[in-house]
Amino acid sequence: MKLRLDKYLTEMGCGTRSQVKKEILKGSVSVNGEIAKKAERKVDTEKDEIIFKGEKIFYAGYEYFMLNKPAGVVSATEDKKERTVIDLIKESKRKDLFPAGRLDKDTEGLLLITNDGQLAHRLLSPKKHVDKIYYAKIKGIVTEEDVRLFEKGVHIGDEKPTMPAALEILSVQKERRKEKIKEQKILPETKNETDEKEDGYSEIYLTIKEGRFHQVKRMFRAVGKEVVYLKRIQFGTLTLDPSLKPGQYRKLTEEEVEQLC
Ligand code: URA
Repeated sequence: MKLRLDKYLTEMGCGTRSQVKKEILKGSVSVNGEIAKKAERKVDTEKDEIIFKGEKIFYAGYEYFMLNKPAGVVSATEDKKERTVIDLIKESKRKDLFPAGRLDKDTEGLLLITNDGQLAHRLLSPKKHVDKIYYAKIKGIVTEEDVRLFEKGVHIGDEKPTMPAALEILSVQKERRKEKIKEQKILPETKNETDEKEDGYSEIYLTIKEGRFHQVKRMFRAVGKEVVYLKRIQFGTLTLDPSLKPGQYRKLTEEEVEQLC
């Protein structure tokens, strides 16, 4: 691909357009061993050797990173108050990275970070129905009835119910909770009446094909339960690399990029 020299250097993070133009005028940039004089000269991203202030600048077109998003950072490119997922990617050459989709601030797990707008658009398009798999801990006992309801689609306050989603129950921990139902003040010798209620926590996998705002949390709220921990483990053909700790990332392999595309 052919590009203007100043654009090439700006895209590779050497400075702003005006800063790199100044460096070119100062003679700090060479192309194939010759000092470049003009910012608008064209360079070939595959063939030409560009040296900026003594350092060889390799061109990176599209970049793809798999991030294990930690809780506490926001899925945005910039934010005045909060740390963003882009702040975590330290070794990118590109300045135009963005997260392909969003996870809530308190959600962990797989997030694709790229500058490939077309791919992101395809993966996020509501028409494409790309599978996303979440692992969650739920306050409440998830039942086979919930599995059936999610399979049919639930109303979460939007115009349409959710598309069929596959809910898999991994474990259920039941606990009995005593609930006071009546205080008997008239006859002090009578004990307070109590009612035993079954409560507990469940672990699940949920596969959804949409990406509505707070979708997983709202689906469980619709069946009277609460998500207390949420982690995305799959996005389309991409599976979260188990060696990545929250906050860590790696480049996608060529095979992973091909499969996604
Ligand atoms: N669903 C949610 O509720 N939150 C997320 O972060 C992702 C899916």
